[in-house]
Amino acid sequence: MQREVRERVMAEIEEYLGSDSTAMAPEVMRNPVAEYVDPSRLAQEQELFRRTPIVIGHGARCAEPRSFFTEDAAGVPVLVVRQGDGSLKAFLNVCRHRGAKVELDDCGRRANFSCPYHAWSYRIDGSLRRVSYDDCFGDPGDAAAGLVELPVEERHGLVWVLLTPGAEIDVAPYLGGLDAELATYGLDQYVVERDTLLRANLNWKIVVDGFLETYHIKFLHTRSIGPYIRTNLTPFEGFGPHGRMVGVRDSYEPEVRGRSVDEVDCLPHVAVIYQLFPNTVLVWQADHFEAWLVFPEGDDPARSVARVQLLAPHPTRDDAEQRMWDRNWKILMQTVLEEDFPVGETMQRGFRAGAQSHLTFGRNEPALQHFHRSLAEAMGPTPTRG
Ligand code: FES
Ligand SMILES: [Fe+2]
Repeated sequence: MQREVRERVMAEIEEYLGSDSTAMAPEVMRNPVAEYVDPSRLAQEQELFRRTPIVIGHGARCAEPRSFFTEDAAGVPVLVVRQGDGSLKAFLNVCRHRGAKVELDDCGRRANFSCPYHAWSYRIDGSLRRVSYDDCFGDPGDAAAGLVELPVEERHGLVWVLLTPGAEIDVAPYLGGLDAELATYGLDQYVVERDTLLRANLNWKIVVDGFLETYHIKFLHTRSIGPYIRTNLTPFEGFGPHGRMVGVRDSYEPEVRGRSVDEVDCLPHVAVIYQLFPNTVLVWQADHFEAWLVFPEGDDPARSVARVQLLAPHPTRDDAEQRMWDRNWKILMQTVLEEDFPVGETMQRGFRAGAQSHLTFGRNEPALQHFHRSLAEAMGPTPTRG
């Protein structure tokens, strides 16, 4: 975070600490429940995912030549492979013979990729290497072109793809004002310390929404992060469809309050939540990042799947660091699996019960308002009922 940004954020936190308030939108906002339950809305979102650069992981997951990872990004199977020259290529993970998924493993390293069905094989650059019984098979036609390539770019250490073959990807202008800010963290030097896939019976946006306000912290998270993160005190700034929120840690008042940007680095005493439109949440956690890549699962608006990665600034050096990451990961999983997801699943069921046609986002929830306004701008308004 640049010096002038830290200075602005510190001034804002100072003001909120003095007045026990937070960044506020001009009005409350009503958001249709249909956004979370309507299959036609999900179809629109899946189309949005296909025309928007999206993050599918950190590049350190495939650091070595010939290493790879796979991801089902909003239902689109993707294979990302590190090439011999250090660059990345991304492909639809779909065999050109009859469409089976070519690489089934989550990540690993391969000399070539071999389809499990009839063992057609592909080189790491996606070209078709071998057709089994090719003397008998005949001309493979356009399947000879190999795996279908997707536009891919590695920026700030993150792997961005565009799920539309042949399209152009250019992440810097897409990030706009956030691009220079993200560059200050040196995320390209980070490693993937933990990685997991979480499934839940709730709409993917409930997962994202959970990051976009600190209003619930001390109420829902009494047993986890509640004592450490200040409730209802959050600077917010929008950057096009993206946004940045700042959460204040318990160490902020004793260590930072009343001091200038040149006297103290505020970053160890805050949590910075970057909402990267539409479905990525990147959280600065004082000494590491969490990346949340949240996707709808299948065609059911009430199911989602999230890839969660703990990104560390360097490989673990000793047992003490290992224990620290274990602790961090445990708190994160506890917070999400025992607190955020269960309450989110009650919301999803509540929507089905038809209690209301809209949710209300308060003036103290400007990041939530911004996210849903950005979605509405990108796709048009949600159909409403009642
Ligand atoms: S579907 Fe892949 S080899 Fe047949
Ligand atoms: Fe939460």
